[in-house]
Amino acid sequence: MEIKNTRNVFLTPEVASEYDAYYQTETGKIVDNIEKEIVWAHLKELSKTNWLELGCGTGHWTKFFSESKFQITAVDNSEAMLKIARSKSLKNVEFLNADATRLPFSDNHFSGIVSITMLEFVDDLKGALNEIDRVLKPGGTLVLGCLNALSEPGKNKNNDPVFQHARFFTPNEIKEIFTRFGNPRISAGVYFSPDFELLDGTEKQSTAEPAFIAASVQKQK
Ligand SMILES: C[S@@+](CC[C@H](N)C(=O)[O-])C[C@H]1O[C@@H](n2cnc3c(N)ncnc32)[C@H](O)[C@@H]1O
Repeated sequence: MEIKNTRNVFLTPEVASEYDAYYQTETGKIVDNIEKEIVWAHLKELSKTNWLELGCGTGHWTKFFSESKFQITAVDNSEAMLKIARSKSLKNVEFLNADATRLPFSDNHFSGIVSITMLEFVDDLKGALNEIDRVLKPGGTLVLGCLNALSEPGKNKNNDPVFQHARFFTPNEIKEIFTRFGNPRISAGVYFSPDFELLDGTEKQSTAEPAFIAASVQKQK
């Protein structure tokens, strides 16, 4: 995979509050529901103890995991994002400011790792994948939510102030990310038309590429 450069654009309070506010918009709510359904299908059968969330941001997904009774350590390296996350006073969650490429945990520490659209913004993708591999127990589960480079948001990412700094992944690149862990189960949704109308559940869905891809794997024992 060609590794494209990117950087973390979530370090300022302005970007952090704008990011969190997106989830309250009409489109944001619909997209969020679709994504939650997709990710939940990967999580619902799994043990809920000893999870790590990487790139937890403003804690939007952390809240979902907490309400679903997961016990989770949630990590981000943006204090601005974490400040909003901490204000949500979530149960069974420990928030930590740490870099995904230099995690302060011992080898084989976590039973599960979940990360939603963080690898898109990590400056050192290989470093983050090495750390995921290091801290995930053999037999543990990795769940990733990723943005599809072939979707309309992917094709138009350079017009977006935040996404222009992201590295979207093609479905093949997502499979490549998982190669070292095993054969992933993949599902997808959030279909946009070229004029950004949401197509999920409509007849036109099959004419578009999904914007959100979730993949999970049990790390080989
Ligand atoms: C698109 S946001 C996703 C936030 C959250 N997962 C969500 O879906 O709402 C990406 C997050 O990854 C974090 N991030 C980027 N690079 C990171 C790194 N090296 N270590 C930890 N977090 C990082 C950013 O600070 C940001 O909060």
